[in-house]
Amino acid sequence: MTKAFTQLLLKWNIASNHRPMPWKGEKDPYKIWLSEIILQQTRVEQGWAYYEKFVTTYPTVHELANAKDEKVLKLWEGLGYYNRCKNLIFTARYISKKLKGVFPNNYESLLSLKGVGPYTASAIASFAYNLPYAVVDGNVFRVLARFYGIDTPTDTQQGIDLFNKIADENLSKKQAGIYNQALMDFGATVCKPSTPNCADCIMKKKCVAFLNNQVNQLPIKVKSITRKKRYFDFFCFYSNGKWLVQKRLEGDIWGGLYQFYLNESKSLVPVTVDYLNEVLAQQLGISSKIGRVHLNQTKGVTASVSPIYNQALTHQLLQARFLLVKFDTIPTVFSKALWVNQKQLKQLPFPKIINQFLGQDFINWCKT
Ligand code: ADE
Repeated sequence: MTKAFTQLLLKWNIASNHRPMPWKGEKDPYKIWLSEIILQQTRVEQGWAYYEKFVTTYPTVHELANAKDEKVLKLWEGLGYYNRCKNLIFTARYISKKLKGVFPNNYESLLSLKGVGPYTASAIASFAYNLPYAVVDGNVFRVLARFYGIDTPTDTQQGIDLFNKIADENLSKKQAGIYNQALMDFGATVCKPSTPNCADCIMKKKCVAFLNNQVNQLPIKVKSITRKKRYFDFFCFYSNGKWLVQKRLEGDIWGGLYQFYLNESKSLVPVTVDYLNEVLAQQLGISSKIGRVHLNQTKGVTASVSPIYNQALTHQLLQARFLLVKFDTIPTVFSKALWVNQKQLKQLPFPKIINQFLGQDFINWCKT
Protein backbone atom coordinates (compact mmCIF):
# COMPACT_ATOMS: atom_id res chain seq x y z
CA MET A 1 0.00 0.00 0.00
CA THR A 2 1.24 3.47 -0.84
CA LYS A 3 2.38 5.36 2.25
CA ALA A 4 0.65 8.59 3.26
CA PHE A 5 3.99 10.36 2.93
CA THR A 6 4.37 9.22 -0.68
CA GLN A 7 0.81 10.14 -1.61
CA LEU A 8 1.15 13.61 -0.10
CA LEU A 9 4.51 14.19 -1.74
CA LEU A 10 3.24 13.23 -5.21
CA LYS A 11 0.12 15.31 -4.69
CA TRP A 12 2.23 18.30 -3.68
CA ASN A 13 4.41 17.73 -6.73
CA ILE A 14 1.50 18.05 -9.12
CA ALA A 15 -0.31 20.85 -7.31
CA SER A 16 2.45 23.07 -6.00
CA ASN A 17 5.93 22.13 -7.20
CA HIS A 18 6.83 24.93 -9.58
CA ARG A 19 10.57 24.63 -9.58
CA PRO A 20 11.91 24.89 -13.09
CA MET A 21 15.38 23.44 -13.55
CA PRO A 22 17.06 22.65 -16.87
CA TRP A 23 17.76 18.99 -16.00
CA LYS A 24 14.21 18.27 -14.82
CA GLY A 25 12.55 15.63 -16.95
CA GLU A 26 15.83 15.09 -18.83
CA LYS A 27 16.19 11.51 -20.09
CA ASP A 28 19.73 11.59 -21.47
CA PRO A 29 21.80 9.77 -18.81
CA TYR A 30 24.91 11.76 -19.75
CA LYS A 31 23.20 15.07 -19.00
CA ILE A 32 21.60 13.70 -15.84
CA TRP A 33 25.00 12.47 -14.69
CA LEU A 34 26.55 15.89 -15.40
CA SER A 35 23.82 17.68 -13.46
CA GLU A 36 24.12 15.34 -10.50
CA ILE A 37 27.90 15.63 -10.31
CA ILE A 38 27.62 19.42 -10.44
CA LEU A 39 24.86 19.40 -7.82
CA GLN A 40 27.04 17.34 -5.46
CA GLN A 41 29.05 20.51 -5.24
CA THR A 42 26.66 23.35 -5.10
CA ARG A 43 23.20 24.73 -4.67
CA VAL A 44 20.77 24.65 -7.58
CA GLU A 45 20.96 28.43 -8.17
CA GLN A 46 24.70 28.29 -8.78
CA GLY A 47 24.76 24.83 -10.35
CA TRP A 48 22.33 25.90 -13.05
CA ALA A 49 24.86 28.10 -14.86
CA TYR A 50 27.57 25.44 -14.61
CA TYR A 51 25.22 22.83 -16.03
CA GLU A 52 24.37 25.09 -18.98
CA LYS A 53 28.07 25.79 -19.61
CA PHE A 54 28.95 22.09 -19.52
CA VAL A 55 26.15 20.84 -21.78
CA THR A 56 26.77 23.63 -24.26
CA THR A 57 30.54 23.13 -24.36
CA TYR A 58 30.33 19.33 -24.22
CA PRO A 59 26.93 18.22 -25.61
CA THR A 60 27.87 14.53 -25.52
CA VAL A 61 30.17 12.37 -23.46
CA HIS A 62 32.62 12.19 -26.39
CA GLU A 63 33.28 15.93 -26.44
CA LEU A 64 33.92 15.90 -22.71
CA ALA A 65 36.16 12.86 -23.04
CA ASN A 66 38.22 14.52 -25.76
CA ALA A 67 38.63 17.84 -23.94
CA LYS A 68 41.94 18.86 -22.36
CA ASP A 69 42.02 18.47 -18.57
CA GLU A 70 42.83 22.13 -18.07
CA LYS A 71 39.86 23.30 -20.15
CA VAL A 72 37.47 21.20 -18.09
CA LEU A 73 39.07 22.32 -14.82
CA LYS A 74 38.70 25.90 -15.98
CA LEU A 75 34.99 25.39 -16.64
CA TRP A 76 34.66 23.78 -13.21
CA GLU A 77 36.44 26.68 -11.53
CA GLY A 78 34.56 28.00 -8.51
CA LEU A 79 32.81 24.74 -7.73
CA GLY A 80 35.63 23.40 -5.53
CA TYR A 81 36.42 19.74 -4.74
CA TYR A 82 38.54 19.39 -7.85
CA ASN A 83 38.89 15.65 -7.42
CA ARG A 84 35.27 15.42 -8.45
CA CYS A 85 36.09 17.21 -11.67
CA LYS A 86 38.99 14.83 -12.28
CA ASN A 87 36.67 11.87 -11.70
CA LEU A 88 34.23 13.46 -14.15
CA ILE A 89 36.93 13.59 -16.82
CA PHE A 90 38.07 10.04 -16.03
CA THR A 91 34.54 8.64 -16.22
CA ALA A 92 33.71 10.52 -19.43
CA ARG A 93 36.79 8.96 -21.05
CA TYR A 94 35.90 5.54 -19.72
CA ILE A 95 32.35 5.74 -21.12
CA SER A 96 33.44 7.26 -24.40
CA LYS A 97 36.33 4.88 -25.08
CA LYS A 98 35.71 1.63 -23.18
CA LEU A 99 31.89 1.63 -23.34
CA LYS A 100 31.83 3.21 -26.82
CA GLY A 101 29.68 6.04 -25.50
CA VAL A 102 26.91 3.79 -24.19
CA PHE A 103 25.96 4.93 -20.71
CA PRO A 104 25.46 2.13 -18.10
CA ASN A 105 21.75 1.43 -17.63
CA ASN A 106 21.54 -0.35 -14.30
CA TYR A 107 22.24 0.66 -10.70
CA GLU A 108 25.29 -1.58 -10.10
CA SER A 109 27.17 -0.50 -13.19
CA LEU A 110 26.31 3.15 -12.54
CA LEU A 111 27.65 2.75 -9.01
CA SER A 112 30.89 1.29 -10.33
CA LEU A 113 31.68 4.52 -12.21
CA LYS A 114 34.37 6.66 -10.61
CA GLY A 115 32.78 9.58 -8.76
CA VAL A 116 29.33 8.01 -8.66
CA GLY A 117 28.11 7.05 -5.18
CA PRO A 118 24.78 5.55 -4.09
CA TYR A 119 22.97 8.91 -4.24
CA THR A 120 24.08 9.75 -7.77
CA ALA A 121 23.56 6.16 -8.99
CA SER A 122 20.00 6.22 -7.61
CA ALA A 123 19.34 9.62 -9.15
CA ILE A 124 20.55 8.55 -12.62
CA ALA A 125 18.86 5.11 -12.43
CA SER A 126 15.52 6.65 -11.46
CA PHE A 127 15.59 9.77 -13.67
CA ALA A 128 16.91 8.13 -16.84
CA TYR A 129 15.43 4.63 -16.57
CA ASN A 130 12.71 4.96 -13.89
CA LEU A 131 14.39 2.21 -11.87
CA PRO A 132 13.19 1.87 -8.25
CA TYR A 133 16.12 3.34 -6.29
CA ALA A 134 15.52 5.96 -3.59
CA VAL A 135 17.90 8.90 -3.24
CA VAL A 136 19.12 9.38 0.31
CA ASP A 137 21.08 12.42 1.45
CA GLY A 138 20.95 15.14 4.08
CA ASN A 139 17.75 16.59 2.60
CA VAL A 140 16.01 13.24 2.64
CA PHE A 141 17.18 12.59 6.23
CA ARG A 142 15.69 15.90 7.25
CA VAL A 143 12.32 15.45 5.57
CA LEU A 144 11.90 11.88 6.85
CA ALA A 145 13.20 12.67 10.35
CA ARG A 146 10.61 15.42 10.68
CA PHE A 147 7.66 13.62 9.08
CA TYR A 148 8.15 10.48 11.19
CA GLY A 149 9.59 12.30 14.25
CA ILE A 150 12.80 10.24 14.25
CA ASP A 151 15.47 11.34 16.72
CA THR A 152 18.07 8.70 15.83
CA PRO A 153 21.19 10.69 14.86
CA THR A 154 21.67 10.73 11.11
CA ASP A 155 25.46 10.48 11.37
CA THR A 156 25.52 7.08 13.11
CA GLN A 157 25.42 3.70 11.37
CA GLN A 158 22.15 2.95 13.12
CA GLY A 159 20.66 6.20 11.79
CA ILE A 160 21.95 5.66 8.27
CA ASP A 161 20.50 2.12 8.16
CA LEU A 162 17.18 3.27 9.54
CA PHE A 163 16.79 6.20 7.14
CA ASN A 164 17.79 4.06 4.17
CA LYS A 165 15.13 1.52 5.11
CA ILE A 166 12.43 4.18 5.47
CA ALA A 167 13.51 5.86 2.24
CA ASP A 168 13.11 2.54 0.39
CA GLU A 169 9.71 1.89 1.93
CA ASN A 170 8.46 5.32 0.92
CA LEU A 171 9.73 5.29 -2.65
CA SER A 172 7.06 5.14 -5.32
CA LYS A 173 8.27 2.12 -7.29
CA LYS A 174 6.17 3.05 -10.30
CA GLN A 175 7.22 6.67 -10.45
CA ALA A 176 10.69 6.49 -8.93
CA GLY A 177 12.13 9.35 -10.98
CA ILE A 178 9.24 11.71 -10.33
CA TYR A 179 9.18 10.78 -6.65
CA ASN A 180 12.93 11.34 -6.16
CA GLN A 181 12.88 14.70 -7.92
CA ALA A 182 9.81 15.74 -5.93
CA LEU A 183 11.52 14.79 -2.67
CA MET A 184 14.59 16.85 -3.55
CA ASP A 185 12.40 19.82 -4.46
CA PHE A 186 10.26 19.47 -1.36
CA GLY A 187 13.35 19.43 0.88
CA ALA A 188 14.76 22.48 -0.88
CA THR A 189 11.65 24.65 -1.07
CA VAL A 190 9.29 23.62 1.77
CA CYS A 191 10.97 21.42 4.38
CA LYS A 192 14.08 23.62 4.43
CA PRO A 193 16.81 23.28 7.09
CA SER A 194 15.99 26.61 8.72
CA THR A 195 12.71 28.49 8.34
CA PRO A 196 10.74 25.61 6.85
CA ASN A 197 7.43 26.65 5.38
CA CYS A 198 5.21 24.60 7.71
CA ALA A 199 2.26 26.97 7.52
CA ASP A 200 1.54 26.06 3.89
CA CYS A 201 2.80 22.47 4.06
CA ILE A 202 0.58 19.76 2.68
CA MET A 203 2.07 17.28 5.19
CA LYS A 204 1.50 19.23 8.37
CA LYS A 205 -1.48 17.22 9.61
CA LYS A 206 0.62 14.04 9.48
CA CYS A 207 4.03 15.46 10.29
CA VAL A 208 5.10 14.22 13.75
CA ALA A 209 7.69 16.98 14.20
CA PHE A 210 5.11 19.65 13.33
CA LEU A 211 2.45 18.19 15.60
CA ASN A 212 4.97 17.98 18.48
CA ASN A 213 6.57 21.35 17.81
CA GLN A 214 9.93 19.68 17.10
CA VAL A 215 10.59 20.86 13.57
CA ASN A 216 13.64 22.91 14.51
CA GLN A 217 15.12 20.12 16.65
CA LEU A 218 15.12 17.50 13.88
CA PRO A 219 17.13 15.90 12.42
CA ILE A 220 19.75 15.21 15.06
CA LYS A 221 23.49 14.85 14.50
CA VAL A 222 26.00 13.77 17.14
CA LYS A 223 29.32 14.71 15.68
CA SER A 224 30.43 18.16 14.75
CA ILE A 225 33.41 18.38 12.45
CA THR A 226 36.63 20.02 13.54
CA ARG A 227 38.49 21.93 10.88
CA LYS A 228 42.22 22.30 10.66
CA LYS A 229 43.37 25.91 10.28
CA ARG A 230 45.90 26.68 7.55
CA TYR A 231 47.68 29.95 6.83
CA PHE A 232 48.77 30.65 3.28
CA ASP A 233 50.94 33.52 2.10
CA PHE A 234 50.97 33.69 -1.67
CA PHE A 235 53.94 35.65 -2.96
CA CYS A 236 52.94 37.25 -6.22
CA PHE A 237 56.28 37.58 -7.97
CA TYR A 238 56.16 40.03 -10.86
CA SER A 239 58.77 40.88 -13.43
CA ASN A 240 58.53 42.65 -16.74
CA GLY A 241 54.79 42.16 -17.38
CA LYS A 242 54.73 38.59 -16.12
CA TRP A 243 53.67 36.74 -12.99
CA LEU A 244 55.22 33.62 -11.58
CA VAL A 245 52.74 30.76 -11.27
CA GLN A 246 53.16 27.15 -10.22
CA LYS A 247 51.06 24.07 -10.83
CA ARG A 248 50.12 22.44 -7.55
CA LEU A 249 51.10 18.84 -7.01
CA GLU A 250 48.71 16.00 -6.22
CA GLY A 251 48.49 14.85 -2.63
CA ASP A 252 47.10 18.03 -1.06
CA ILE A 253 44.06 20.18 -1.80
CA TRP A 254 43.87 21.71 -5.29
CA GLY A 255 46.20 19.24 -7.04
CA GLY A 256 46.59 20.27 -10.70
CA LEU A 257 45.36 23.84 -10.14
CA TYR A 258 47.65 26.86 -10.25
CA GLN A 259 48.88 29.20 -7.55
CA PHE A 260 51.40 31.91 -6.79
CA TYR A 261 54.51 30.95 -4.84
CA LEU A 262 53.21 29.68 -1.51
CA ASN A 263 54.65 29.95 1.95
CA GLU A 264 52.49 28.13 4.49
CA SER A 265 52.81 28.94 8.19
CA LYS A 266 51.52 27.29 11.36
CA SER A 267 49.98 30.56 12.53
CA LEU A 268 49.24 34.01 11.18
CA VAL A 269 52.67 35.66 11.04
CA PRO A 270 52.87 39.47 10.97
CA VAL A 271 54.26 40.69 7.66
CA THR A 272 57.48 42.28 8.82
CA VAL A 273 60.81 42.90 7.12
CA ASP A 274 62.20 39.88 8.96
CA TYR A 275 59.42 37.65 7.71
CA LEU A 276 59.89 38.74 4.10
CA ASN A 277 63.61 38.28 4.39
CA GLU A 278 63.14 34.84 5.80
CA VAL A 279 61.07 33.77 2.80
CA LEU A 280 62.98 35.61 0.12
CA ALA A 281 66.56 35.41 1.35
CA GLN A 282 66.61 32.26 3.45
CA GLN A 283 64.10 30.04 1.65
CA LEU A 284 64.76 31.21 -1.87
CA GLY A 285 68.24 32.67 -1.71
CA ILE A 286 67.08 35.90 -3.29
CA SER A 287 69.28 38.87 -2.47
CA SER A 288 67.59 40.97 0.17
CA LYS A 289 68.31 44.01 -1.99
CA ILE A 290 65.81 42.85 -4.58
CA GLY A 291 63.35 41.57 -2.03
CA ARG A 292 63.23 44.85 -0.22
CA VAL A 293 62.07 46.80 -3.26
CA HIS A 294 58.52 46.90 -1.98
CA LEU A 295 59.12 47.25 1.69
CA ASN A 296 57.85 50.32 3.36
CA GLN A 297 60.78 50.67 5.70
CA THR A 298 59.22 53.25 7.96
CA LYS A 299 56.34 51.03 9.01
CA GLY A 300 58.29 47.83 8.60
CA VAL A 301 55.63 46.23 6.43
CA THR A 302 55.32 45.73 2.70
CA ALA A 303 53.45 48.32 0.75
CA SER A 304 51.45 45.63 -0.97
CA VAL A 305 49.87 43.06 1.28
CA SER A 306 46.30 42.13 0.58
CA PRO A 307 43.69 41.81 3.30
CA ILE A 308 43.08 38.27 4.53
CA TYR A 309 40.88 36.09 2.34
CA ASN A 310 39.00 33.25 4.03
CA GLN A 311 37.69 29.96 2.74
CA ALA A 312 36.10 27.06 4.60
CA LEU A 313 36.55 23.59 3.14
CA THR A 314 34.90 20.55 4.70
CA HIS A 315 37.89 19.76 6.90
CA GLN A 316 40.02 22.88 6.66
CA LEU A 317 39.73 26.59 7.36
CA LEU A 318 41.99 28.63 5.14
CA GLN A 319 43.33 32.13 5.59
CA ALA A 320 45.25 33.51 2.67
CA ARG A 321 47.19 36.70 2.09
CA PHE A 322 48.77 37.87 -1.11
CA LEU A 323 52.06 39.76 -1.17
CA LEU A 324 53.32 41.71 -4.16
CA VAL A 325 57.03 41.47 -4.88
CA LYS A 326 58.37 43.06 -8.04
CA PHE A 327 61.72 42.15 -9.54
CA ASP A 328 63.67 44.22 -12.06
CA THR A 329 65.42 41.07 -13.15
CA ILE A 330 64.25 37.53 -12.57
CA PRO A 331 66.25 35.90 -9.75
CA THR A 332 68.21 32.80 -10.83
CA VAL A 333 66.14 30.54 -8.62
CA PHE A 334 63.12 31.32 -10.83
CA SER A 335 64.79 31.37 -14.22
CA LYS A 336 63.16 28.05 -15.17
CA ALA A 337 59.83 28.82 -13.50
CA LEU A 338 56.56 29.45 -15.33
CA TRP A 339 56.02 33.19 -15.93
CA VAL A 340 52.76 34.25 -17.57
CA ASN A 341 51.23 37.52 -18.64
CA GLN A 342 47.82 38.66 -17.43
CA LYS A 343 45.99 37.18 -20.41
CA GLN A 344 47.60 33.76 -20.00
CA LEU A 345 46.97 33.91 -16.27
CA LYS A 346 43.22 34.28 -16.87
CA GLN A 347 43.15 31.02 -18.82
CA LEU A 348 44.61 28.91 -16.02
CA PRO A 349 42.47 27.15 -13.42
CA PHE A 350 42.92 28.56 -9.91
CA PRO A 351 41.41 27.72 -6.52
CA LYS A 352 38.47 29.86 -5.48
CA ILE A 353 40.39 31.84 -2.87
CA ILE A 354 42.96 32.91 -5.48
CA ASN A 355 40.23 33.75 -7.97
CA GLN A 356 38.64 36.02 -5.40
CA PHE A 357 41.92 37.85 -5.05
CA LEU A 358 42.33 37.99 -8.84
CA GLY A 359 38.93 39.69 -9.06
CA GLN A 360 39.79 42.23 -6.35
CA ASP A 361 43.19 43.44 -5.11
CA PHE A 362 45.07 41.93 -8.02
CA ILE A 363 43.31 44.25 -10.47
CA ASN A 364 44.68 47.28 -8.63
CA TRP A 365 48.12 45.78 -8.38
CA CYS A 366 48.19 45.38 -12.15
CA LYS A 367 47.46 49.08 -12.58
CA THR A 368 50.40 50.21 -10.39
N1 ADE B 1 20.38 18.00 -5.89
C1 ADE B 1 20.91 16.89 -6.40
N2 ADE B 1 20.25 16.49 -7.48
C2 ADE B 1 19.27 17.38 -7.70
C3 ADE B 1 18.26 17.51 -8.67
N3 ADE B 1 18.13 16.62 -9.63
N4 ADE B 1 17.44 18.54 -8.55
C4 ADE B 1 17.57 19.42 -7.54
N5 ADE B 1 18.50 19.35 -6.60
C5 ADE B 1 19.36 18.33 -6.67
